[in-house]
Amino acid sequence: MKRYSTLISLVLLAAVLLSACAPAATPTQAPPPPPAETAAPAAATEAPAAPAATEAPAAAAGGGKLEVFSWWTSGGEADALNALFNQFKTYNPSAEIVNATVAGGGGSNARAVLQTRLAGGDPPDTWQVHPGFELMGQYVASGFVDPITDLYKSEGWDKVVPAGLIAQMSKDGQIYGVLAGVHRGNGLWYNKKVLDNLGITVGPTMSIDEFFQVAEKVKAGGVTPLCVGDTGVWASAQLFENTLLGTIGPEKYQGLWNGTTPFDAPEVKQAMETYGKMLDYQNSDHSALSWDQAIKKLMEGSCVFSSMGDWAYGEFVKAGLKDNTDFGWVSHPGTAGSFMIVADGFVMAKGAPDKDNNTLWLKAVGSKEGQEAFNPLKGSIPARTDVDRAKFGVYHNWSMDSFAKDALVPSVVHGSAAPADFQQALNDAVTTFIVDKNVDAFAAALVKAAKDAGFGK
Ligand code: BGC
Repeated sequence: MKRYSTLISLVLLAAVLLSACAPAATPTQAPPPPPAETAAPAAATEAPAAPAATEAPAAAAGGGKLEVFSWWTSGGEADALNALFNQFKTYNPSAEIVNATVAGGGGSNARAVLQTRLAGGDPPDTWQVHPGFELMGQYVASGFVDPITDLYKSEGWDKVVPAGLIAQMSKDGQIYGVLAGVHRGNGLWYNKKVLDNLGITVGPTMSIDEFFQVAEKVKAGGVTPLCVGDTGVWASAQLFENTLLGTIGPEKYQGLWNGTTPFDAPEVKQAMETYGKMLDYQNSDHSALSWDQAIKKLMEGSCVFSSMGDWAYGEFVKAGLKDNTDFGWVSHPGTAGSFMIVADGFVMAKGAPDKDNNTLWLKAVGSKEGQEAFNPLKGSIPARTDVDRAKFGVYHNWSMDSFAKDALVPSVVHGSAAPADFQQALNDAVTTFIVDKNVDAFAAALVKAAKDAGFGK
């Protein structure tokens, strides 16, 4: 347990490190194509066109097969994944890519399918993973992945990826994953045109009290204030996680994971009260919608705000909407000054069916070109600090600045801050709370889950 809190402290160090490396912001705008998607494309075969290669790693003989497992099925997610496939194709144009996706935001369905495959000795070559507890607890500890430390040296990633991020993927001097990008989980997105019509201006930051004042005005204007799509309960758990951070602040939030902030502390209970109050402002059909369907509702203007990681940005890009014209963002109320890390990486499966192609895939994921193509479509910022900022739009430059100067905190909802059992217990407690709004029971459930996981007092 101690080691993970050390790792988390190391993530904080990354802020310092990055502020030293981050170049000055020169925003431009990222362009896009049409609408969103929620259904589950099962394992499809992809063969995207290959853009001109800028770097060609010592390639395998060519051909072969690469199975990439992820939960990237929404419009923006699929486009971004395709950009990585395109980069891989520059290294091996004749390889067959098997795009194995399992729909369900946050990996809510994918992780279970993957565990079954891994337990049955049928691993894909590589899969999507969050650093921290998810990678180290679910895959490294069980021996499902091989280290890729040598790639950090041969590709120079050790010099361009913040040490704090690498630490979240490391054990005993070995590194087990490469990141494609780093999402900021604590965004509050809004439909700017609807707010303009209602005469409401949102400042560069928003307190929790301000949020409720604005929500009342929106409601009085006949529009639903909050857009939620929680067919996957993680989306509601994230609304709570963000509200928790916004209420107790980054230091006490960090304390939750090392036992110094008890889950029944008065300020944690205050966050639960506030979260309960927020639920009164959400759309009535939330439990019938996925996260991206909720974002679609926001775009259509039938609700205004959504507390969501910046994969939401990918949906705006996909729909061709413009930053600060059609949509806007602030940090989730109370969380300005914090960056909730939700990073996405890929691994080398132990017994990967096609190790050579997977090596090329991991090189594509970690490459400058790959990250410059993927992240503008995905909404995340590159894990590399040597990218050309001019290739990124207003939002990304804002987020890069936040990463460089703000308190970096790990997400529990997206697997980094705590073990899977706690993550599950949180989802269960949120599901119950949505119905009974019982703060004491909510707090007691989390106190018990933290004790069971070994980090509660
Ligand atoms: C992942 C993102 C993804 C989001 C919604 C998160 O857990 O890190 O890449 O877009 O879930 O599916």
